[in-house]
Amino acid sequence: MSPKKKSEYAVPKLKDFSVASLDKEVAKLRAAIDEESKAVGTEDEWQIFRDRWMARKHGILTQVNDLWLKAAPKDAKRDVGQRVNEVKKQVEQTLADALENKQRLASSSKSSERIDITLPGIRRPVGAEHPIIKTMNEMVGVFRNLGYSVEEGPEIETDYYNFEALNFPPNHPARDTQDTLFIANQESKPLRDRLLLRTHTSPVQIRTMEKMKPPVRVVCPGKVHRNDAPDATHSPLFHQIEGLAVDTNITFCYLKGTLDHAVKEMFGSSVKTRFYPSFFPFTEPSADVQISCIFCGGRGYRDGGACRNCKASGWIELLGCGMVDPNVYGFVDYDPKKVSGFAFGMGVERIAILKYGVDDIQLFFNGDVRFLEQFAYERF
Ligand code: PHE
Repeated sequence: MSPKKKSEYAVPKLKDFSVASLDKEVAKLRAAIDEESKAVGTEDEWQIFRDRWMARKHGILTQVNDLWLKAAPKDAKRDVGQRVNEVKKQVEQTLADALENKQRLASSSKSSERIDITLPGIRRPVGAEHPIIKTMNEMVGVFRNLGYSVEEGPEIETDYYNFEALNFPPNHPARDTQDTLFIANQESKPLRDRLLLRTHTSPVQIRTMEKMKPPVRVVCPGKVHRNDAPDATHSPLFHQIEGLAVDTNITFCYLKGTLDHAVKEMFGSSVKTRFYPSFFPFTEPSADVQISCIFCGGRGYRDGGACRNCKASGWIELLGCGMVDPNVYGFVDYDPKKVSGFAFGMGVERIAILKYGVDDIQLFFNGDVRFLEQFAYERF
């Protein structure tokens, strides 16, 4: 038992209802209210205090009512009644003060959390497409408008899809131009099943032709990998968009018209194209497409000197293309006597570099927001 309990106030029965005796008892009662309320701190304690004093059945005020007021002789009732009312008020006031105190404490302890509506708000920057993804989407859009659909394929490919079915025979030197990372410990597998990081998105064209019969018109955007040391113009990881159209009677003429149109959509209608003989194992004939230099307007000089961007030639190499080699049709069960088609492939970074005048491909990959945010609101 706590010491407080020992001296706990109990309502006495009154024998003497004289004013002097009443005042003496009321004084004791008031002192008890003060003393007990002072010892109270927590919310639970206040609840106990309230029940002890104000509970309807056995609360002290009820006892006072019963033992003092009800028991008082008629002529003392008024004096007792007044005093009982005052005591009641005191208890109520004590509880009201405690409540107010609690609220004041609560609000002052949270003052640091109060909202100052005059402060500027917290800006949450809106994310934006990476310039490479943006360029890629815009180019895909150009071909979509020509009726092409979009196909995607795995980034980890088999030797068969990345090389063999594209007419790169095993050990053929053409493979050297597209060295890449091979997945380790696959020596027990036949060469064609070995896994590697795809060096171009052309394997998606094979996969597409395997599952679709002509007419085929697809573009294949995606990430590709090559064993290239990073520098201002090379990255071991980059993006490509390749296209494939196979149908009856497709000629080089269609290839030229399609690419000339696409390039004009991307760089403006004044840009000219030039097709330059080239080689790819999966196309025959093959060509590199050059565009008239967008920096010097194809003149080869600018600002009173030679144009750096086209090395004064007036032309910039942009992409590779050609008529699908009949050998490739053999791998996908198309009849080369009945169908013909063209394919093209371009590097997305290269296009973005030209389009935005960026001088280092690494800027696209090292994630500097100051660089990237410049493209956030650019329109193609
Ligand atoms: N796949 C070739 C490359 O990555 C590009 C290309 C695609 C060339 C289609 C011709 C036709 O180098």
